[in-house]
Amino acid sequence: MSTVPEPAPRIDTLSPRDVAWVASLVPQLLETGLGHRSWPVRILMAHLRAPASVGLAARSGRQRIGFAVMQVANAAAHLDLLGVLPAFRRRGVASRLLAQLERHALELGAARLTLELRESNAAGRRFYEALGYRECGREAHYYCGRETAVHMQRALATGTDQRWPDGARPI
Ligand SMILES: CC(C)(COP(=O)(O)OP(=O)(O)OC[C@H]1O[C@@H](n2cnc3c(N)ncnc32)[C@H](O)[C@@H]1OP(=O)(O)O)[C@@H](O)C(=O)NCCC(=O)NCCS
Repeated sequence: MSTVPEPAPRIDTLSPRDVAWVASLVPQLLETGLGHRSWPVRILMAHLRAPASVGLAARSGRQRIGFAVMQVANAAAHLDLLGVLPAFRRRGVASRLLAQLERHALELGAARLTLELRESNAAGRRFYEALGYRECGREAHYYCGRETAVHMQRALATGTDQRWPDGARPI
């Protein structure tokens, strides 16, 4: 019996209709146990309206499966949010979202992409390391005074992506 390969997820712009979905997932995927919501709908909507903000959604058919939000300022891009639904992980979805953000960041004149994540997020850290990001500092009590942030960054290559010269990471 032959198996039909799953179609690649579609990556497109986060629409206003997606914002409530993202805002509802951030506490589950990124802020578990912190007791604080940093990205309610109102704040996320205002953030996405800023000129140098880029928001992306990953979709499988009609289902939303992942999201990413970045802002570019002063030749540096900062990744604010990245998440993929648990059932769709380890299929290259976040890699594709990040590769697309990196291309946008380059187009907007950024030379590097920075981010921070919770010290306890070992899986997130391994993900970023696999994509060429390296730790560049730590900040104690960053998350609600309770958890250290690990800062990471990657220099953005001009021209082709040195990791996957043909474009986004194949899945
Ligand atoms: C971290 C996260 C975004 C990764 O999403 P994903 O779509 O599963 O990532 P990818 O499939 O693109 O992974 C690419 C590579 O990263 C590494 N990686 C990803 N998840 C990993 C994990 N749980 N453990 C170890 N390595 C991992 C692997 O090298 C992987 O390649 P492989 O599957 O061929 O081994 C996802 O687990 C998530 O949403 N986590 C909760 C939110 C979060 O932590 N966001 C990031 C911090 S802001």
